[in-house]
Amino acid sequence: MSEEESVKVAVRVRPFNKRERERNATLIVEMKGPTTVLNDPSGENEPKRFTFDYSYWSHDSFKEEASGYLAPAKPHYADQNMVFKDVGLGVLANAWEGYNCSLFAYGQTGAGKSWSIVGYGPNKGIVPLFCDKLFVQIEEKKSGGEAASFEVEFSMLEIYNEQVRDLLNPASKRKGGLKVRQHPKLGFYADGLKTVAVNSYQDIENRMEEGTKNRTVAATNMNATSSRAHTIVGIKFTQKYQNAAGQETAKSSVINLVDLAGSERAESTGATGDRLKEGAAINQSLSSLGNVIAALVDKANGKQVRVPYRDSTLTKLLKNALGGNSKTIMIAAISPADINYDETLSTLRYADRAKQIKTKVAVNEDPTEKLIRELQEENEKLKKLLESGGIPEKLDDDDDDEEDVKSLSKDERERIRKELEEEMQARILASEQEMEEMKKTWEEKMQQSHTGPTVPDAGAARKEKESTPHLYNLNIDPQLTGMIVHLLKPGQHLVGSSNEESGETPSILLKGLNIQPQHAAFIVEGDKVFLDRCQSSPDAKIIVNGQPLTEKDELEHNDRIMFGANHLYIFAHPKQAGSQKQPAMTYEEAQAEINQNSGFVLGKGSLDDLILNDDLVEVMPAIEQANDMSEEMDKKVKFEVVIVPAKVLGIVGSKTEPSKRKPPEVQSTARVMVKMRNVDLGLEYLWTKAKFMNRKYLMDEMYESFSDGEDINWPDERDPFTEPPDHEEMIGGLHLYLQSIGYKIEAKEQLDLTDIKGIEVGKLNVELWPCTQTGKVLRDEDAFVDDPETDLKGQPLAFKVKILNARGLPDRFTDIYCKFRVYTMEPFQTQTIKKAINPDFKFEQLVSFNAIDSQELDYLLNGSAYVQLFGKQVPKKREGKKLTTKQIVKKSGMLKGKDIGAENMPKATVDEGKVGYQFQILTLKKRLERLEKKMAQMNKVVEVAEKSSKMRVKTETIKTVLHAKNPDAVEKAIKTIPKDKGAGDNEGVNGQPPSQESKACVLL
Ligand SMILES: Nc1ncnc2c1ncn2[C@@H]1O[C@H](COP(=O)(O)OP(=O)(O)OP(=O)(O)O)[C@@H](O)[C@H]1O
Ligand SMILES: [Mg+2]
Repeated sequence: MSEEESVKVAVRVRPFNKRERERNATLIVEMKGPTTVLNDPSGENEPKRFTFDYSYWSHDSFKEEASGYLAPAKPHYADQNMVFKDVGLGVLANAWEGYNCSLFAYGQTGAGKSWSIVGYGPNKGIVPLFCDKLFVQIEEKKSGGEAASFEVEFSMLEIYNEQVRDLLNPASKRKGGLKVRQHPKLGFYADGLKTVAVNSYQDIENRMEEGTKNRTVAATNMNATSSRAHTIVGIKFTQKYQNAAGQETAKSSVINLVDLAGSERAESTGATGDRLKEGAAINQSLSSLGNVIAALVDKANGKQVRVPYRDSTLTKLLKNALGGNSKTIMIAAISPADINYDETLSTLRYADRAKQIKTKVAVNEDPTEKLIRELQEENEKLKKLLESGGIPEKLDDDDDDEEDVKSLSKDERERIRKELEEEMQARILASEQEMEEMKKTWEEKMQQSHTGPTVPDAGAARKEKESTPHLYNLNIDPQLTGMIVHLLKPGQHLVGSSNEESGETPSILLKGLNIQPQHAAFIVEGDKVFLDRCQSSPDAKIIVNGQPLTEKDELEHNDRIMFGANHLYIFAHPKQAGSQKQPAMTYEEAQAEINQNSGFVLGKGSLDDLILNDDLVEVMPAIEQANDMSEEMDKKVKFEVVIVPAKVLGIVGSKTEPSKRKPPEVQSTARVMVKMRNVDLGLEYLWTKAKFMNRKYLMDEMYESFSDGEDINWPDERDPFTEPPDHEEMIGGLHLYLQSIGYKIEAKEQLDLTDIKGIEVGKLNVELWPCTQTGKVLRDEDAFVDDPETDLKGQPLAFKVKILNARGLPDRFTDIYCKFRVYTMEPFQTQTIKKAINPDFKFEQLVSFNAIDSQELDYLLNGSAYVQLFGKQVPKKREGKKLTTKQIVKKSGMLKGKDIGAENMPKATVDEGKVGYQFQILTLKKRLERLEKKMAQMNKVVEVAEKSSKMRVKTETIKTVLHAKNPDAVEKAIKTIPKDKGAGDNEGVNGQPPSQESKACVLL
């Protein structure tokens, strides 16, 4: 018997974080009762309203207690306990009744998912509170004399890169992770996942800590981006008792607590536009979840649709939670800050959709015997099927993802038959295991879970830390910070990767990029702790407080230490801690310190700098790692950071063309970009930060295969270190200032084309011609504009842009063309020239405005059209003997690490002013010429008037001369002077003042 139930949705808004406070971020979220309002900081969109089952205001109105717990200062603040009371207790009650329950947290990175699900320190989240309460209630039942027995089992897994990692059993790391299989009775499951029996809260806490620690180690060793992992904590709660008929009955509930990966959309993670298909699939699981939700919503609204559960690992494992037998709650975690408007809106929309989903819930309560019988029957069926060699018509019992086997080709049928055979074997095994588990007594299960290596007692380790100098890790995900601790007791502690040859295992074992077998050593003498290099690895990278370690050095409390490319630690000395008030650095601060010493010294004041700094903190370590990977795998590629002014990229965020998407004040004027250089073939590419970070994710995957000793000769279309030969790259660009057009002056210039670093890469010959709307070029004299403000406003305006040719381009380019954009018009593009260092474009484009308004005028007088040159690159012919990446990099003097920034920082800002002045001077010169011409004409007026003995000249005549559209008109006007009767031949007309009609001016 099942009943329909809607997915419940809660929304929770967190406080501003430190960076948001530093930049005085604006609060854009409001909550009124069940309504959440999101305001658009740019004011372009109406406020958006949403209603959810629960709305949690955790932004302000709290006070920090001595324990660190954030308690309400005003009643509307939602603390952890309040959220637990609504959401957690509900889940718990359902679990007791025998319903499956799922709780998942959705939201962008840093929005507070882990805060709600797991919590931080004294601010325990739903999972620990839930587990605690579960055992409290079990004890209550037991002491109340309940005859039932209660079993709690715990598992923890992570989905990263579509692979399932068992967080309780990292040693089982199999290639490709655990296999996700489907069983007709048991649903989708991760085959071989370790499930442990637990009998106290402490037990669960230790397991959780173990799982998180394993996650941290894996993330650090593999340079994994932890915010891209989904974590699923699974709790199975079973109550066993005798039913009325005396049969042993099990009432069970599976509870899934899911901390999803950050929900940054494809657009901002840069997956769009990259040729690498995997790029789009970077978070396959998350996008599939979106599709599944959309399909389920359609279904709830009565449409017949296929729900694509099979598209990703996550959706398979969550199938039950989403569309099956489960009471499901989603927590949408949102940021309160203006800068996150887009992401927050997308999270709220997602949540809004999710609340329409309906699941069919049923109590899982059956006599054990019946369950076993069903599994047995299932197995009999499978075995028969296997023996007959046939394959079922459907791949599983579910209508949702039925695949029509009949329509497949013979080969495909054969392939599927093989797969199915394996799948069926696995199913049989799973059923058998499940039956065995059911028959086992709880005591047996407990004993099994507590054999093998003992789980370290989290409490005891914490105690030891308090008195012993130690290292603890820093991670970009605060949830993983402090998870790895190395105690430094008196004596020597070698740091390094294990060295099979020497057989020596370092006491601090690190893995991953750039970690030497003997990397460094800690020497603890009394209360003093020293860090030293190992003689066997002079190249080992050790950075202390941002500076490379050159010799043995005594450490102080809160020193930052980086080993290799990714192992960042804080040294803590409890005895010194009291005297030093300086708090330990966060990951961001420690990384910024390293960046600063690499040459990137940014101001701290402006918002732009803050945004850039954040980007650098993310990109710089990734670049280091990418370079190390390139060297180790010999990919012939070198990456470097460049800071590129937004204008150079053709991104305009000025007031003349405000961006629609972000409030103007958060439009950074510069972007952190990554230059990818193939040092072997002499090719260079500029990647956005997002594209690089995505590629990095794929590089990590490649490196993992490489570390596993696999062949990494991947085809180019999968290789993250390559670009396809037809990839277009910007050769250079320049600003074409349009000021001269504002005065209707033509301009012919040879302009410098510069690359993103401001280095000249060639010349471009361009011309600007004022003309009529139909394209007739206006001669200078025709087009006189003295004061654009009065002469142009409201008038039509047209001009021609001529791009004649480019000269002296780098010879590695072919298929060259120019592209430019005027104001908000669609971009214009020249023809493509196949192969030339000096391509002739012979391009001409008429650009016209209907009636100039003040914004357009401002653009014409102060703005520019950004002209960009694009081309494809041809690899250089290789000569001589082949060098490794390392050798080439060394040879060309591109030393690692330190030079990354220093080399290009100062040049990175192009001197745009120079080009602007060139045009201003040109325009001024022309205007001066024009004025001189007018002066000459006026002189002629005076001359003619004097010659014909006139005292006055009509204003009309003077006006004509000043504003005449062509020289003929001037000539004509001058000719009228001698004939003017009222101009006073001698002393005026009969001594009378000039009449009203012939208002004249007196020539002095
Ligand atoms: N309600 C809250 N009150 C106080 N601090 C919070 C709250 N929510 C989040 N934070 C803080 O914000 C930071 C980011 O939160 P959290 O780690 O939960 O984000 P996340 O959504 O899990 O991010 P990721 O996707 O990277 O895992 C943490 O330092 C956390 O302490
Ligand atoms: Mg998290």
